[in-house]
Amino acid sequence: MIPALQAKKIIPIAWAPLRRGNFLNNTIIKIAEKYNKTPAQIILRWNIESDVIVIPCSKNPARQLDNISLFDFELTELEIEAINTLHTGERTSFNPNIFDF
Ligand SMILES: NC(=O)c1ccc[n+]([C@@H]2O[C@H](COP(=O)([O-])OP(=O)(O)OC[C@H]3O[C@@H](n4cnc5c(N)ncnc54)[C@H](OP(=O)(O)O)[C@@H]3O)[C@@H](O)[C@H]2O)c1
Repeated sequence: MIPALQAKKIIPIAWAPLRRGNFLNNTIIKIAEKYNKTPAQIILRWNIESDVIVIPCSKNPARQLDNISLFDFELTELEIEAINTLHTGERTSFNPNIFDF
């Protein structure tokens, strides 16, 4: 966890943990194949293992079930690091050009 958050006992919540449905990526797909999980499950598990609360949204009952079936596998440190490196600095909120509320 980020030390400043830990010091204040603050636990972050992901704003849109599945990038609002736009989350497919080769690294994620490869890891999903290894665990026989969906890419969404890998991303949600990565959040959890990064001490971030996830509240994924789905209107689809099968996906809702997928989105809570996250506790029968664990990512390795290397996999967590591989997903960390996907960060590009892109903002999905608070950017007036793409913020669509
Ligand atoms: N109240 C709070 O504490 C709090 C905290 C954080 C965020 N939020 C709010 O939550 C909202 C963000 O949620 P969001 O719905 O935009 O983002 P999201 O949860 O990242 O993404 C939802 C999208 O992903 C798709 N999806 C969900 N599960 C999937 C799966 N297993 N496989 C493939 N696709 C899947 C959904 O489609 P389907 O419906 O078709 O499955 C939907 O299009 C924001 O409005 C934010 O303000 C509230």
